[in-house]
Amino acid sequence: MLKRHEWKRKKSEIDASSRGTVEIRPYRDSDFIGFLNIHPKGVYFNAPYIVQNLNDLHSLVMAVLDGRVVGYVYYEDFKADGFSDICFLNVLQSAQNKKIGTKLIEKAIEDSFKKSEIKRIEISVRVNNTAAFRLYQRLGFKETITYLAYELRL
Ligand SMILES: CC(C)(COP(=O)(O)OP(=O)(O)OC[C@H]1O[C@@H](n2cnc3c(N)ncnc32)[C@H](O)[C@@H]1OP(=O)(O)O)[C@@H](O)C(=O)NCCC(=O)NCCS
Repeated sequence: MLKRHEWKRKKSEIDASSRGTVEIRPYRDSDFIGFLNIHPKGVYFNAPYIVQNLNDLHSLVMAVLDGRVVGYVYYEDFKADGFSDICFLNVLQSAQNKKIGTKLIEKAIEDSFKKSEIKRIEISVRVNNTAAFRLYQRLGFKETITYLAYELRL
């Protein structure tokens, strides 16, 4: 979870040198194949469902490098409950560790906190996902609840 007032302080600390030439912008129809290639299979929202349901509350932001989609973030606003949920963040393996994930999350945070109803941003991450965990912590996210996932196999 990241609270609005904590982000304001954090934003001022972010090093301007982390800014590069990658373009961070809203999804366009021509991005679909690139998006499909990066979006994981078998997750709760598939790529066609996401793009068909974009609206004021459901946002898809792309990272484009040299005309190629290299990453995206998808997030949903729950204005009545005062928060945005970052549902998916993915960067092509070949483009990782260049702060593209950071820029995507920064954009999602900036857009969300422009909406006066949004007071906090939530992300769920697996405890062994060190790269994502580091990124979120660096941007000021604080750990709140740890969920345990149970599975019963046939
Ligand atoms: C998580 C992910 C989006 C990060 O994208 P990225 O563009 O590489 O992110 P950044 O370059 O901004 O930052 C990556 C951070 O992870 C660190 N990192 C990368 N690989 C790592 C590893 N194997 N172990 C530990 N840290 C690692 C980097 O050092 C960097 O942290 P730092 O800036 O504090 O040094 C990308 O790794 C990815 O798409 N992973 C697969 C999908 C995923 O896990 N999505 C998030 C689900 S919550």
